[in-house]
Amino acid sequence: MMNKKMEHLTEEVNQLLSETIPNSKLNTNLEESMRYSLEAGGKRIRPVLLLLTLEMLTDQYKKGFSSALALEMIHTYSLIHDDLPPMDNDDYRRGKLTNHKVFGEWKAILAGDALLTKAFDMIVNDDSLNDVAKVKLIKRLSFASGHLGMVGGQTLDMQSEGAETNIDLDTLEKIHNAKTGALLKFAVMAAVDIAEPENEVSNALESYSEHLGLMFQIKDDLLDIYGDEAKLGKAVGSDIENDKSTYVSLLGQQGAEDKLKHHTDKAYKCLNQLPKQYNTDNLVYIIELFNNRES
Ligand code: IPE
Ligand code: IPE
Ligand code: MG
Ligand code: MG
Ligand code: MG
Repeated sequence: MMNKKMEHLTEEVNQLLSETIPNSKLNTNLEESMRYSLEAGGKRIRPVLLLLTLEMLTDQYKKGFSSALALEMIHTYSLIHDDLPPMDNDDYRRGKLTNHKVFGEWKAILAGDALLTKAFDMIVNDDSLNDVAKVKLIKRLSFASGHLGMVGGQTLDMQSEGAETNIDLDTLEKIHNAKTGALLKFAVMAAVDIAEPENEVSNALESYSEHLGLMFQIKDDLLDIYGDEAKLGKAVGSDIENDKSTYVSLLGQQGAEDKLKHHTDKAYKCLNQLPKQYNTDNLVYIIELFNNRES
């Protein structure tokens, strides 16, 4: 499914991730628990999107590595906590037992906490970025991850659980924008922070990232019902079991597919607004991948 460029970037990200969390002198196995989830083989779509966007803007991507790794760490922490029994209570993730099933609940909570903190450490210690760029990236990442971003969305998601809770489409869109969209927006906009293109480029890319975020979670909702567990590496049926509000529960399969198509078309339009000097092939490819993915 991935093109050669994406495969190469994924390999680079995997290699760097495998080097970032060595054992510590504290003599705990916390690092093992962090690495267990981090190196469990996620798709790495967020770091790759960040690096592809930066490469489109500047012809190079190495200055994006620390933000890309930080983003994958925060995403991984969000998944460890998302799978815990008081949240979605899932046993499989990335084709393996979930973190708490292997290391126990308290250590899974702490592994998540430590990955969140480590993310900011990655950016602060990147010598290829100047201090102004670091502060901009940290500001954007803390916003995307916190109570107005991913954590806020996860809170709304949990509040909207249960058979007696009926939310409308606007609220569902708010949940998806926050819990999933915020980190995907960071992927694109971190590249903008580093490359500093003109406002019209930044605005088009921001809208592109917002449509990608909705596409990604609508597809995730569809895959939770119609997907293949072996390909996904996580159980299907989790949303129904937890009485989650999803695009499929609100609109049905066809309604969710229609919404996916709507945001796909919009995402293409955003890329068409970019000045012709930019080669959008890889960002077009991302749209196709988000549309057709089976995992
Ligand atoms: C899963 O994200 C959680 C959502 C936001 C839907 P991914 O589908 O990117 O999961 P990994 O990183 O590949 O495991
Ligand atoms: C979670 O959404 C998004 C996060 C911020 C972790 P889901 O609960 O739908 O993600 P999956 O389906 O478990 O991967
Ligand atoms: Mg969830
Ligand atoms: Mg979940
Ligand atoms: Mg899901």
